[in-house]
Amino acid sequence: MVGRASTHVLRQAQDAPPFNIAQGHYLLNLYMNQPKHNPLLNRLKKGRVMFLLLIFVIVSGWCYVDAGIETGPYNLVYPANFGNRIQVPADNPITKQGVYLGRMLFYENRLSANNKLSCGSCHQQDKAFTDGRTFSPGVDGVLTPRNSMSLVNLLWARKFFWDGRANGLEEQAATPLTSPHEMGQALTTSAQKLAQTPNYPALFKLVYGDEQITGDQIVKAISQFERTLISANSRYDQYLRGAYQPTPDELKGMELFNTAPQPEKGIRGANCSHCHGGPKTYMELFHNNGLDSLPKDQGIETLTRLPADRGRFKVPTLRNIALTAPYMHDGRFKTLEEVVDHYSEHIEQSPSLSSFLQGESNEAGGKSLKLLPAEKKQLIAFLNMLTDSTFITNPAFSDPHLISTKNKKH
Ligand code: HEC
Ligand code: HEC
Repeated sequence: MVGRASTHVLRQAQDAPPFNIAQGHYLLNLYMNQPKHNPLLNRLKKGRVMFLLLIFVIVSGWCYVDAGIETGPYNLVYPANFGNRIQVPADNPITKQGVYLGRMLFYENRLSANNKLSCGSCHQQDKAFTDGRTFSPGVDGVLTPRNSMSLVNLLWARKFFWDGRANGLEEQAATPLTSPHEMGQALTTSAQKLAQTPNYPALFKLVYGDEQITGDQIVKAISQFERTLISANSRYDQYLRGAYQPTPDELKGMELFNTAPQPEKGIRGANCSHCHGGPKTYMELFHNNGLDSLPKDQGIETLTRLPADRGRFKVPTLRNIALTAPYMHDGRFKTLEEVVDHYSEHIEQSPSLSSFLQGESNEAGGKSLKLLPAEKKQLIAFLNMLTDSTFITNPAFSDPHLISTKNKKH
């Protein structure tokens, strides 16, 4: 019907007086200005013109909302050696439109009480989603008590925060959004603010089939986006799939990383893989890695009240570690050299020190690793191999608001 009507109009228009404006406008002008005297219009039923205009309005409106937004299930791509134990809640399946909305929200300043902070303020892509600070200021200027964490390969994680207190990404996201010292805004206020914008109601409708925006939908979309933050193309990944030949220092560093020292047998090692091992360099463990004998921050003991949990923290991934300084839950180390020196010389003894670090040394009876200067360099060469430059430059993870303001300027 539509097809027939438009060919008809086109044929008629070719016979009509010359015009060089778009056909739709021409018809509109005819309809508005000279309805009674134009033979073309007389032959067209008024209803057909209105029908065409209506289609035009619907299609252009749909294009505006839908500009470049793909819809349908999101295809998660990751290497087989990352394993299939991914965490996607049944009530929050990942869709392309959901990830798009989540990315918009991850970088949305309106979700903060002063309209100046977003998740992206403390989790910046070029720093593997950390912020380079020891502690980070929230909307009220108060600093977070712990160091911002890298957001990478979260699809496989079950517990979040340095003390693992959040049991899923959805639960996690609600914390910074509402905490008075972070983004400081109730989820209902965030939903109301988004409802007053020109673009969000239609986007929420595209994702959830409903223009009514809720806090639950906000945290779900952000979590969908976070699950797509997959890093699997460091030189280490390339080596594991046979596509990169490590330098001699990188190879030696990798061997140290994966080997437990046995001084009585003359085997030297750093045994980092015991806690930071596997292709993701992440295994969801919690340990006291000997930073303090009397920790200021009790770690998971705060949650469990068990003295054995004193100073135990999440073992973080070492992926992109060269980009995420300063290090540890309190950002106490500025460089990887300082971190390696810690494991090599300064393990603090305490009753809750991880058994993996007790008496772990390259010297018989030693209390710390006691690595040689050359070995420290090799270990750091391996840690640098874990940087994934495609992850930190992937446009799919970047701030979409920046892109649209840039486009507006042109
Ligand atoms: C003011 C800075 C700040 C803002 C804003 C912020 N974060 Fe964080 N983020 C942190 C800090 C600090 C931690 C570690 C806190 C802790 O362990 O107690 C963290 C931890 C996390 C973790 C845990 C990672 C892991 O491996 O366990 C996730 C996920 C996360 N943030 C996501 C978000 C999201 C999503 C938002 C926006 C809704 C957000 N953050 C906003 C500072 C911030
Ligand atoms: C017993 C388990 C364990 C072993 C073995 C271990 N680590 Fe850790 N590592 C941890 C824990 C736990 C943390 C976080 C501690 C904190 O912040 O309180 C950590 C933190 C780090 C960090 C800082 C990460 C960040 O995002 O801030 C680096 C770098 C690191 N370890 C490197 C190494 C290297 C290199 C080795 C081997 C020499 C090693 N680790 C051995 C448990 C371990």
